Amino acid sequence: MAKTTTFSCSACGAAHTRWSGRCDGCGDWNTIIQDVPISAGPAKKSLGGKRGQSIVLTDLSTEETPPPRTLCGVEELDRVLGGGLVPASALLVGGDPGIGKSTLLLQAAARFSRAGVKTIYVSGEEASAQVRMRARRLGLEDAPVQLAAETNLRNILTTLEAEKPGLAIIDSIQTMWADNVDSAPGSVSQVRAAAHELTTFAKRHGVSIIMVGHVTKEGQIAGPRVVEHMVDTVLYFEGERGHQFRILRAVKNRFGPADEIGVFEMTGKGLAQVTNPSALFLSERGTPSPGSAVFAGIEGTRPVLVELQALVAPSPHSQPRRTVVGWDSGRLAMILAVLEARCGIPFAGLDVYLNVAGGLKIGEPAADLAVAAALLSAREDTALPVDTVVFGEISLSGALRPAPQTENRLKEAQKLGFTSAIAPAGGKTGTVAGLTLTRPSDLVGFVGETFGAG
Ligand code: TYD
Ligand code: MG
Repeated sequence: MAKTTTFSCSACGAAHTRWSGRCDGCGDWNTIIQDVPISAGPAKKSLGGKRGQSIVLTDLSTEETPPPRTLCGVEELDRVLGGGLVPASALLVGGDPGIGKSTLLLQAAARFSRAGVKTIYVSGEEASAQVRMRARRLGLEDAPVQLAAETNLRNILTTLEAEKPGLAIIDSIQTMWADNVDSAPGSVSQVRAAAHELTTFAKRHGVSIIMVGHVTKEGQIAGPRVVEHMVDTVLYFEGERGHQFRILRAVKNRFGPADEIGVFEMTGKGLAQVTNPSALFLSERGTPSPGSAVFAGIEGTRPVLVELQALVAPSPHSQPRRTVVGWDSGRLAMILAVLEARCGIPFAGLDVYLNVAGGLKIGEPAADLAVAAALLSAREDTALPVDTVVFGEISLSGALRPAPQTENRLKEAQKLGFTSAIAPAGGKTGTVAGLTLTRPSDLVGFVGETFGAG
């Protein structure tokens, strides 16, 4: 029988019958590559009339104790995991090269092994001696972690089956090599096969498996998207080069809230957890300066205060620059348009730069008002009071919408010594002692109250 060749998209995993320049599934260019079959694939014939076995069905109310979770003791990590490590779960940790994934996971391995979980760390990138050297530097050489340097998936699974650990760390999925798949490590078919084997192994043998995944230039985990669907939890380890802070963010979690973050600091002795991130993100703030506004945000379940910095300057270019770090550039364009259309404050001919201090990435629409405040403060060269936090969503009409969890944001601001807050009217505020609340009803009102006539 003639073998048919199949193709799939390396970004979204969509299957194609022939090569083309653009994937219909996700619209990306040059992502379609030829597949090497993983297995015999789906049967050619339908299931036919042959009977299988019937499955036992249960109802929703069946009593079941939730699986016991293991806490490693590093609060920032346990929270991102959704309250500890769930047995028999598969996790994927992505991040830029050199951001500290191996360091984080070696420290986590040491913690979990000390908490009584049998832990195996398999490195496909470094020799055991290198991992040991790092462990010594981190002061973890006495932790009962078992090391191996191996890339052959069959050997790894055989070892895991014999050793029966509670946790296995695979660093990284792109270096793993399944000998039944006929292509180079790191290729789409290899990554998909390896992730599939490891995930099924985790479920079947009750081993929690953490896989490290490299990311592409665009910041996504390299390899097919389907890998993210296979695993239970996807974490991203992010941070800006040159900053000490590292943020572990849950983008998918079957066992806990997504969007939860854990904040770490890279020190000479590895990663240290930061239990009060607001204090850290605001630590560089001093005297009042134009273009700076403090945003009271929510990351996952926790309020985090962060400074937004804007710079507005006459542009020498015919097309003024709009540069954003840590926020969405489309959203910035929208705020600029609303300020111009609803408040009559033009930004034409001006370069606009916006930066979220500390390397945090904000995704909340509630940051709109704080961004507007920073932009106006920069444009008018007027500093906002240092002890004020700002938050709220701006709609295209220029109306302001209250942000969720207003009360938590205000409490965090008060805890850190802020004395006033600007937030849209509406929304439950509760009573926060010692905090003066200004509640503009729309953007024009906000501009008037904060910057005089604007
Ligand atoms: P690493 O964990 O190897 O990154 P990844 O696995 O994500 O590629 O981290 C490497 C970086 O971390 C390297 O630039 C040095 C730095 N580092 C420290 O600053 N302190 C430390 O204690 C360790 C172990 C690494
Ligand atoms: Mg590494």
